[in-house]
Amino acid sequence: MAQKTNIIPEPAETKASIILGHFTVNKKTQIILHGIGHENAFFYLSAYLKNYYDVVLLSWMDTPIVTNAIHLRYLKTAKPVTGAYTLTVNKDGVYIDGDDAEGVFHGVQSLIQLLPPVKGKPFDLPYLTIRDYPRFEYRGMMLDVGRHFMPVSFIKKYIDFLALHKMNYFHWHLTDDQGWRIEIKKYPQLTNVGAWRNGTIIGKYPGKGSDNTRAGGFYTQEEVYDIIEYAEKRYVTIIPEIEMPGHASAAIASYPWLSCFPDKNTKLPESMRADVSKNKNGKLVQETWGVHEDVFCAGKDSTFTFLEGVLDEVIKIFPSKFIHIGGDECPKSNWKICERCQERMKKEGLKDEHELQSYFISRMEGYLNKRGRSIIGWDEILEGGLAPNATVMSWRGEAGGIAAAKLHHPVIMTPTTYVYFDYADSRKEDSLNIGGFLPLEKVYNYEPLAKELSADETKYIRGAQANLWTEYINNPRKAEYFSFPRMSALSEVVWSPKAKKSWSNFERKLPTLFKRYDLWDAHFSKAYFDINASVIQNAAKNGIEWKLESKKVSPETTIGYIFPDNTSTYSNYSKPIPIKETGTGRAMVIDTSLTFTIDLKQNFKVNKATGHSTTLKFAPHENYRANGAFSLVNGIVSETGLSNSDWLGWAGQDMDATINLGKVTTVNTIQVHSIDEPGSWIYKPKEVTVWVSDDGMKFKKLASSSDFHPDTLNTGYYILDLNDQKARYIRIVAKNSGTIPAGNAGAGSPAWLFIDEIQVN
Ligand code: ACM
Ligand code: ZN
Repeated sequence: MAQKTNIIPEPAETKASIILGHFTVNKKTQIILHGIGHENAFFYLSAYLKNYYDVVLLSWMDTPIVTNAIHLRYLKTAKPVTGAYTLTVNKDGVYIDGDDAEGVFHGVQSLIQLLPPVKGKPFDLPYLTIRDYPRFEYRGMMLDVGRHFMPVSFIKKYIDFLALHKMNYFHWHLTDDQGWRIEIKKYPQLTNVGAWRNGTIIGKYPGKGSDNTRAGGFYTQEEVYDIIEYAEKRYVTIIPEIEMPGHASAAIASYPWLSCFPDKNTKLPESMRADVSKNKNGKLVQETWGVHEDVFCAGKDSTFTFLEGVLDEVIKIFPSKFIHIGGDECPKSNWKICERCQERMKKEGLKDEHELQSYFISRMEGYLNKRGRSIIGWDEILEGGLAPNATVMSWRGEAGGIAAAKLHHPVIMTPTTYVYFDYADSRKEDSLNIGGFLPLEKVYNYEPLAKELSADETKYIRGAQANLWTEYINNPRKAEYFSFPRMSALSEVVWSPKAKKSWSNFERKLPTLFKRYDLWDAHFSKAYFDINASVIQNAAKNGIEWKLESKKVSPETTIGYIFPDNTSTYSNYSKPIPIKETGTGRAMVIDTSLTFTIDLKQNFKVNKATGHSTTLKFAPHENYRANGAFSLVNGIVSETGLSNSDWLGWAGQDMDATINLGKVTTVNTIQVHSIDEPGSWIYKPKEVTVWVSDDGMKFKKLASSSDFHPDTLNTGYYILDLNDQKARYIRIVAKNSGTIPAGNAGAGSPAWLFIDEIQVN
């Protein structure tokens, strides 16, 4: 009989024992190591029990003790792949059996997750048998320490998080435009100069200039050796990434001759250059994000000698068979005008700069292959021809991975759409982040074996990895917050058999997981509980109601609301709330068992049009439909610019809306809310005109205006005075501004027109 546990990732098979019962770990329980090689599993378990529960158990090697013990043993598992194990709990104790020490280590991770997620509870383990093995051989997480340096203590904590989830590859992104993070003895300037920047962009790119605060850090080789040993004891392989030929600003700031143009100043974006408080000449470590054009010169042999020197030290330090050499986002603008690069292309018969990039990568691959190592590169390494033995990391969707698998190259899937953990997991902007929207469930439902691949081709998919880029993640707590709980979801994607993956089962395990995060001191996002608030039209079609939904993972989860905001007590939410007046509503999810609340605030502007039937002559563009014409009269006026999903948008077309007020009504003013953001191809309407009618057939033109009254974030109102006119039907036309004029972003294309609300008073 199947048995439910709270283990994440979900094991391949969990069977209840025929005899029901619990084995209780007590002070007298001993840990027995059968045979040599179980030290890592044993030390991990002992440290875990000591750190989180203050429990210390005696241990023995190969003793004949048969009762009240936790046994670590070698034993053939049913599925003898690396990392497979069997875990049995019966009246005599716990038996963790693996083909190899790694399997036993994974078994210990499952045992750990059979323990209570809080201190002070008895360790009652149900009698059961777990047979478990990984689905994918590559189960990874990437951490970017180039954009923001993370301390050694956190790197170790992060490796522990991987181990707890049975993940086995830590991809360490060590170099980027904003910092070089690993000591290279042959090239000391890389860390004397390249590990530090004079400041960091303020706010979201393009930002508000630099904070002018020196930032950076690097790992000494001694620290790196220590971290590698730490990871090895957890069966985690560290793959170092040394970026080339792009993302090279920090290396070039250290050794300007690596650039095609050593004497040219580092090009800084306008927003950063405006800041003249410090010297901005010469080659600089970048202080802002994005892609930078100063890359390694592919024409000079000295560039290759340098990179070989770096890699000599990297492969001496890192035992990993795989070395990541980047390869993404390399602008070719310098190469196009560099004499040496052009000469190289001629000499090697390369037809364009993509082939020059391919030459670069293949040459470095050759160097590493001769030394027994293999390269991994981002999917751009497919452009201009794939290096003969390269593994491709597919990040721009899955297309690169699919193409590489069809070429019979190994692939690791890391598509932005499913596993870019720097993307927001909430619609609420609760902290500065790169944007996007990647909720937990979407990660959970990722399937690395693309359906475009044949069964034979899927063999080249080694597994998947999530990437944590840290442009906007400037401290370890925030790195945890963006990792959890999504990393736990990913662990089921890469470990659990496809047939065992179940979102509802994962949801069932979340309350325990969240408590375990607290135990582990892992900061985590509670976006899973975000209130899904929407405004709906009432049944009479003459008003609005506020609908609130949230996930309920425990019986203690409730939604409360206040409307209007000046009321003092929350009411328990049970059904949509009629909103009959202008005011602010607040809602919160309260979970007394997990002790947290999530708060949401909504302003309503109720007027004579609110919730009334509205029709549109021209349908909005399919990407900007919100809830159709109803969104124009739903009582919600965007306060956050276009990021709000309530906008209707038309490309090159007018908004032509007619509102039925239900009966002849006295109307004084009409307000139409719009956006003016030419940089994003969005133009305010040329003119807004109002007609009225009593029968919906014959309309009388009453007023028009081309005065835009700005409010916040490039939004603003058109206000039309009707002077107490009587009307039942109101037609409002907002004239699209037409073709975007020359000299502007999107010149020659149709302008966008955006409207989110029409208010009638
Ligand atoms: C990447 O996100 N540039 C690999
Ligand atoms: Zn060059």
